[in-house]
Amino acid sequence: MLKIKTIDKCKNLGEKTVFLRVDFNVPIKKGRIRNEKKIHDELPTIEYLIRNNCKIILGTHLGRPQGRKVMQYTTKALARKLNEFTGADQRKNKVPFTQKMGRIRFIEQCSGKEVKQATSKLEAGQILFLENLRFDKREEANDKKLAKEWSELADIYINNAFSVSHRKHASMHAIKKFLPAYAGLLLEKELKNLEKIRKPKEKLVLVLGGAKIKTKLPIINNLYKKSSKILIGGALANNFFVANGLETGKSLLDKDRVSVTKGLIRKIPKNKLVLPVDVVTADKKTVKAKAKIKNIHNIRKNEYILDIGPETLRIFSKHIKKSSILVWNGPMGLFENDKFKHGSLGIGRLIASRSKNKSFGLVGGGETVQALAMTEMLEYVDWVSTGGGAMLSYLGDGKMPGLEDIMY
Ligand code: 3PG
Repeated sequence: MLKIKTIDKCKNLGEKTVFLRVDFNVPIKKGRIRNEKKIHDELPTIEYLIRNNCKIILGTHLGRPQGRKVMQYTTKALARKLNEFTGADQRKNKVPFTQKMGRIRFIEQCSGKEVKQATSKLEAGQILFLENLRFDKREEANDKKLAKEWSELADIYINNAFSVSHRKHASMHAIKKFLPAYAGLLLEKELKNLEKIRKPKEKLVLVLGGAKIKTKLPIINNLYKKSSKILIGGALANNFFVANGLETGKSLLDKDRVSVTKGLIRKIPKNKLVLPVDVVTADKKTVKAKAKIKNIHNIRKNEYILDIGPETLRIFSKHIKKSSILVWNGPMGLFENDKFKHGSLGIGRLIASRSKNKSFGLVGGGETVQALAMTEMLEYVDWVSTGGGAMLSYLGDGKMPGLEDIMY
């Protein structure tokens, strides 16, 4: 059984100072937040801590500033948004905060004496919102001194950032050497949902696509025995085509992993592995490209494979309809282009319509969720994972430094 150190296991939580690691890595363009979902998802945990009169030191990364103070990646706008959700505007945003909420205090540093001073002035129910943790190069180096410095500010540590839990960073890993660590409510939900995939009790169908076979190998290796079918689409399928001696023209291919793919074909029982039988091709990737539906044996050297074809979608649909548990990671093609979106949107609709009823449907990965969102059926799916790379690691090789001491 899955054992997680959840917040309710923390004795005397009231009035404790908490170092809360969240993932507010949201898309920001011209200073405006384009998608607030990640911030929204963290609110129940923040609310829980406030109800318990905790003092919260909140840390997140934003983008990849490579250890430098790159103002494009400041977390100031995130603090402002959280203040809107939790402060004066709370009724407008319908966030179920039951107690008064002190204003959020943003600090332009993520470490150092200013942070220490600001923490000492925190009152119960207040949040000290730190500047981007990745502005300090010691964060990504998993530096113990930085972790110790943060730990001295707080009584406990809470990880609510599943999506970064595959990273061995100071705020995810080293900090737990110095503080008792717990899972936040969002992390707890994520792990409970993923457990249904790690240890499937019923027929599991994996739908995998996307470009990078390297990132999918661990999940295939770990789950192929537990799956009833593995449906392969996207550029991932090209490796399988080439491994089977087929022409893929100018299509995206990971040449270095063709022999590994041959190994998978040998290893996975034939009736489990389902590859596309037809695809959508074009001689260019632009909107003006003339799309053709082709049998997989008829691809020319000057063509790109850009989507799965209608016959493949029909076959995939047949298997999806027989599943009890469904996992989808990786688009079926170049869905950003209207001409090549149908495979991905078709899979999205099938999974969504089957979820919350016949199957348990779980979808994860940045682009995959984007494709699912295009169907406007995101809410139909049982669980949209909060992690892309983290989900693949967790279901794959299981290397999750951020979960050590929290899950056992
Ligand atoms: C994400 O958006 O996938 C997470 O925040 C992880 O970000 P990272 O890949 O930069 O660590």
